[in-house]
Amino acid sequence: MEKVSDYLNRYKNHNFVTGLTTAEHIDSLQSFEVRDSDIFLVTYPKSGTIWTQQIIISICELGGGLNKYPNNHDQMPWLEYTEGHDDYSLRPSPRLFSSHLKPDLMPPGLKDKKAKIVYVMRNPKDNLVSYYHFSKKFVDLETPKSFDSYFEQYLNGDVSGSSWFDHIREWHLEKDQYNILFLTYEDMLLDLKAAVTKICSFLGKNLSEEAIQQVVEKCTFRTMKKDPKANYEFVPKERFSGSFMRKGQIGDWKNMLSAAQSERVDQMLQEKLGALSLKFIWE
Ligand code: A3P
Repeated sequence: MEKVSDYLNRYKNHNFVTGLTTAEHIDSLQSFEVRDSDIFLVTYPKSGTIWTQQIIISICELGGGLNKYPNNHDQMPWLEYTEGHDDYSLRPSPRLFSSHLKPDLMPPGLKDKKAKIVYVMRNPKDNLVSYYHFSKKFVDLETPKSFDSYFEQYLNGDVSGSSWFDHIREWHLEKDQYNILFLTYEDMLLDLKAAVTKICSFLGKNLSEEAIQQVVEKCTFRTMKKDPKANYEFVPKERFSGSFMRKGQIGDWKNMLSAAQSERVDQMLQEKLGALSLKFIWE
């Protein structure tokens, strides 16, 4: 891996947090055996990953047959990290995985279109504000010198996960090659029940109205904040001194971005994603 900074390594055009993975491990994903029953959650960091983990896990638990692990991280581990990695080939089906990878680094077996991918994205303005606060509290990430400097770093893609814009563009450009459901953080927040119902139907889980309601209740911000399996408070305080469940709102960017910064993001959205004619819920 090429060293970008004390905190970031780059491999195949993708930035990784130093120490969490290796080039060999990323290469090994090219021969990762995907099972038809596998479910992958893919996000750019800070887009609602642990929230969607809780939704998918709760649906699969009620749908039956899920082997239980002590917490959501172990239940739905990050494909690309070597840390806490067990031999996934020994896991019983259905297996659940999380990933922040772009399509080119994902296991090619996903292109058989049988295994499912849930892809969640979030307004980049709220995403970058969430990432900024997270970076201040997580020892593995470089502490931002100021919001303005972090803003530039984020727009340049000089953060773990690289550029939000490239992530969204590449997954949308390649969507026809995968069995993929696109959701947004905003959709989920505005109507959690509708999002849960959509995910259920995509995963082929026929849950009763009552079971869907149970999933919704397990996945609200308030419930998750108190749920030790879901809230990531198991991450030691010396490593992360904040809360993974920070604010959980739409529009926090208005407290942080200047009018000029907001316009820069709008311009980049147009330049980088305009040709895809995506309709973003936040526009
Ligand atoms: P904020 O920092 O804006 O509060 P990720 O899991 O990808 O790291 O994303 C973290 C963001 O998702 C945080 O956003 C966090 O508060 C938010 N989040 C987590 N669970 C949530 C829930 N149940 N409802 C709404 N937002 C949630």
